[in-house]
Amino acid sequence: MDNNEIQFVAENCVVQINILTDDLFQVKMIRPEEEIIDSIAIYKKNWPMLKPRIIEKEKYFEIETNKLRLRINYNPYRMEVYDKEGDLILADLAHKGLGFEKEGSKVRAVKALTLEDKFYGLGERTGFLNKRGEYHELWNFDQSSPHVHSTKHMYKSIPFLLGLRGKKAYGIFFDNTFLSRFDLGKESEDYFYFEADGGSLNYYVFYGPSLKTVVQRYTELTGRIELPPLWALGFQQSRYSYFPQDKVYEIAETFRKKEIPCDVIYLDIDYMDGYRVFTWDRERFPDPEKMLADLKEQGFKVVTIVDPGIKKDPDYWIYNEAMENRYLCMDRFGFPFVGKVWPGDSVFPDFSQTEVREWWAEKNREFVKIGIDGIWNDMNEPALLEGESKTMPLDIIHKNDGREITHAEFHNLYGTYMSIAAKAGLLKARPDERPFVLTRASFAGIQRFAAVWTGDNRSFWEHMAMSIPMLTTLGLSGVTFAGADIGGFDFDANPELFARWIQLGICYPFCRVHSAVQTRDQEPWSFGPEVEKVAKEYISLRYRLLPYLYNLFYRASITGEPIMQPLLFRYQDDEKVHNLNDQFMLGEAIMVAPVLHPGKDSRAVYLPEGEWYDFHTGEKYSGRRSILVDAPLSKMPIFIKAGSIIPMYPVVNYIGEKEIEELSLLIYPGPEAEYLYYEDDGKSFDYWEGKYNLTSFKAEFGHKSVNLTIVPQVNEYDSPLKYYKIILKGMADLNKVMVNGVEIEGIVVDNDLVIKLPVDEKF
Ligand code: GLC
Repeated sequence: MDNNEIQFVAENCVVQINILTDDLFQVKMIRPEEEIIDSIAIYKKNWPMLKPRIIEKEKYFEIETNKLRLRINYNPYRMEVYDKEGDLILADLAHKGLGFEKEGSKVRAVKALTLEDKFYGLGERTGFLNKRGEYHELWNFDQSSPHVHSTKHMYKSIPFLLGLRGKKAYGIFFDNTFLSRFDLGKESEDYFYFEADGGSLNYYVFYGPSLKTVVQRYTELTGRIELPPLWALGFQQSRYSYFPQDKVYEIAETFRKKEIPCDVIYLDIDYMDGYRVFTWDRERFPDPEKMLADLKEQGFKVVTIVDPGIKKDPDYWIYNEAMENRYLCMDRFGFPFVGKVWPGDSVFPDFSQTEVREWWAEKNREFVKIGIDGIWNDMNEPALLEGESKTMPLDIIHKNDGREITHAEFHNLYGTYMSIAAKAGLLKARPDERPFVLTRASFAGIQRFAAVWTGDNRSFWEHMAMSIPMLTTLGLSGVTFAGADIGGFDFDANPELFARWIQLGICYPFCRVHSAVQTRDQEPWSFGPEVEKVAKEYISLRYRLLPYLYNLFYRASITGEPIMQPLLFRYQDDEKVHNLNDQFMLGEAIMVAPVLHPGKDSRAVYLPEGEWYDFHTGEKYSGRRSILVDAPLSKMPIFIKAGSIIPMYPVVNYIGEKEIEELSLLIYPGPEAEYLYYEDDGKSFDYWEGKYNLTSFKAEFGHKSVNLTIVPQVNEYDSPLKYYKIILKGMADLNKVMVNGVEIEGIVVDNDLVIKLPVDEKF
């Protein structure tokens, strides 16, 4: 035993167990000559020294931490993991040998399954939350067929599995970048397994018992999001493609004329000259500099698509630079791999090389410096438009800074490394601004580099519904800055579907409408005045909720807690929510129950324990039951947990339109209500140096009285806020409101009592 590493020899390999914390350990099965290397997913490498207790017995030994007991049989090797209560959390399957099998280059671990086991996570997956009984394969793929429950391959590979055994949660992160498979009780009711086509058997085991702890620890290991620029939380409008230049102006002007808030417009592939990356089609866009400046003037940010394929064209300088420097993915004979994408025959940067990423970052820097605000990386599975595999052959070589690997190993990493280069490019161009990168393909850990979207969905009701388990599953898998194309990408939306999807979509952490070439228009005003009104109202609601959402991003950045959460994340002990796919939480206070079927004007909503307020009517309900809620087209059911404080902004057309001087705080009575409000400049890295504010709000509810305490805890950011508008929801009949010990008069507005307080006065 060396520090917190325990090594011993099992039958055909050395087993190494690293105890990283009381509730996290790593298992490595090391074959002769094998060197196990962390993937890019691993962010935290140095864990504080922990002295687990080792108890040696005749046939086995035990490792004990404050939360777990690992019982290990050497021969045959078998591990059992118990928690402090003596419950068996995870065990290698005895009659399946070592819990470590080898077939050619494959590696596999097999674990015992119990009747009560449920499974979650695995990143971007179609289907429902609970994956028990299913088989999953992780291999990045341009999935252009309609996404259905049985779709095998999606764009992202995140081999992080969460398990719920009875009331206890655990997690397994399989740090292997090859094609991996998870059989979660499909082959047998007795075991589940995970395996990969190559690489090492190297995995981490997390113990909760709460899912929250597991996700928190997983994101400590693989990293958390950095705070994005606030504008990236705004509403974003995209289409394949807005061109020519005048069309982009027209879209921008329509948003402003109609006063529908919008922060970002996307330019898809048609802005380029013959799909050559880092170029402009000067006929369609005669003056991109001016267009970008004009849009900026109107408060728009512009994000452009950048694909990895470089047109094979000897008159194209990017191609020539890449060829001269041998920056490309090569075959075994040293020739650059050529595949067909949008520009026809193309070559592909070898992003495994630091040098290539630096070159690509520089290309990004030069390109964005004329006023592009963010980069959208697509087709980076990498995708090809031809061939059955739709990607490059598995024996293509990636130089990988000296440790050459084949595409079989690098494939699932390609998108992540491309995003790293894009992020670096934006930072080179504007070192003081938070970068915004959007990527389609990725591996675990992508949350540190980019936001993601779920690729080419369709304008199907089923796809809107599926976006909820998909995005909440991504959130459980560490990737919380995620969204689906609102309105659906392929196929045509209809007015009702679009209205319902906008309502749901304003709750996606990444909130963008996008649609495919040759589909009908999909702007908020494209479906007639009734739908436009709904769209405007709900997009405005997103802008009102921005401080609440931004605070969820802040929390995600320090705890890894997802922004859009499945109910089971908060109500783990309530079996009714273990596979509840049509509702979700935004943080702890807001529960959303969108309408997901046509022709409905009501829906059943499950309210978990506690009391809940209908956001629209203010009506109060007790939980642990289902209720039927009115939901005409103009309304998406939203419930607020009793005892919540929700910060809200006034609506603006875009972030930064004006300084926000008033923060509303909606207080919903409950046993007590507490909120810690985070605020910073929303664009720079000053918060890293402590330039932010944290203010705690606490409300105690008496008989017809409320006692409010407001305490600035950190006050290092010079905020433009001048007033708090405290809205005591449904409390019009209060006799007394005390704020920091001083009685304050309020005014009655509808059923609420409203008080306005200057921010910097002592009450
Ligand atoms: C891919 C992307 C889609 C984009 C299109 C054209 O299908 O997933 O979002 O619009 O390519 O670039």
